[in-house]
Amino acid sequence: MFEGKKILIGVSASVAIYKACELIRSLRKENFEVKVAMTKEAQGFISSILFESLSSNKVYTDVMQENSFLGISHIELANWADAIAIVPATANIIAKIAYGIADCPVSLATLASDKPKIIAPAMNTKMYENTATQENIALLKKRGFIFVEPTVGELACNSVGRGHIASVEEIKDCIESVFFEKSLKGKTIITTASATREEIDPVRFISNYSSGKMGFALAQMAFNMGAESILISGPSNLETPFGVNRINVKTALEMLNALDTQIQKSKQDTYVIMAAAVSDFKPKQTSNYKIKRQNKDTFILELVQNPDISKTLKEKYPHIKLIGFAAETNDLIENAKAKIDKKGLEFIVLNDVSRKDIGFGSLNNEVTIIFKDGKIEHLPFMTKKEIAYNILKLL
Ligand SMILES: Cc1cc2nc3c(=O)[nH]c(=O)nc-3n(C[C@H](O)[C@H](O)[C@H](O)COP(=O)(O)O)c2cc1C
Repeated sequence: MFEGKKILIGVSASVAIYKACELIRSLRKENFEVKVAMTKEAQGFISSILFESLSSNKVYTDVMQENSFLGISHIELANWADAIAIVPATANIIAKIAYGIADCPVSLATLASDKPKIIAPAMNTKMYENTATQENIALLKKRGFIFVEPTVGELACNSVGRGHIASVEEIKDCIESVFFEKSLKGKTIITTASATREEIDPVRFISNYSSGKMGFALAQMAFNMGAESILISGPSNLETPFGVNRINVKTALEMLNALDTQIQKSKQDTYVIMAAAVSDFKPKQTSNYKIKRQNKDTFILELVQNPDISKTLKEKYPHIKLIGFAAETNDLIENAKAKIDKKGLEFIVLNDVSRKDIGFGSLNNEVTIIFKDGKIEHLPFMTKKEIAYNILKLL
């Protein structure tokens, strides 16, 4: 997806510098071309040789370098990059960039660039919350710099507070997002993901194998493509993708209520993508106490049907556009077609969950899309992110 896209990573002198190494590795796995610029102080933490080796490119370490025979100029470097990401960003480098001080390779290349710029701050809480830093950040945000906000976490100075650098995954998501055309601007896309859980008692529940990866990929791509992206997720350990507003729910009923609230709030063209694997049934009664082992061979658990979320929503809000997912093991096409009519869907994305190489838990997928007019389109084996992109292009 990112073959040939060029990214310059500006590295400054924070303990979180090791995250830049991980980030470069994962960007290269996505086929980005990466170059690195380092501040002088950052070179006191890690040698440029490591970044040279991780990026397979010469590292820009000295503003006077361009006068040597190395052939790196800050202007060439800034023009070369499709985007610049400063990871980690110290309070010092943020201040320098805010005021146009171009005395180090990172601030100099940033000043010389008119491409998208991303900053991932990392610092002690007091430094981060200091009015000077906050005003510098506000100034840069006003100028269009994108910040990957630090989290509350354990800091190198043995304290806990805001200033802990965002995860590599989130920073990578943010970098990727600048490479998409914002073709879904003006749309609200609400995606459901993961499995719902229906409690039997305080320690047991009915659920299924859905990992949530497809729904999370859709929510991420919806943001990348310019939509307001809302993700309503059943229990999942997956990280919230950059730019996505996540709402956590547990049961099918909670999912329906969360969808109802979000649809009512939406003032734009609204799409609901039902990628969650919602429990069709729930126990008729949930015990408040753990059900004890019993002195008989069989234990009967009475189940009742959960509401059909898509059908309920379409009846209440005929203006919304619904996209369904069907995880089937047999009679794939017939079952999917029946669902389109019953639930009022625009199209349905059909997964064959009997295959081990795709579907539940996998990073890849291969799907068939069936439209309400009967047209059928096949998306061959690719990553769930690529599948998500291709599905969203249909909206
Ligand atoms: C061990 C150590 C860790 C540091 N960690 C941070 C940090 O996480 N964030 C920060 O803003 N400054 C941190 N500093 C201070 C910066 O390194 C210092 O302000 C330096 O001048 C920044 O230079 P640069 O922005 O040009 O890379 C740290 C300093 C040391 C010695």
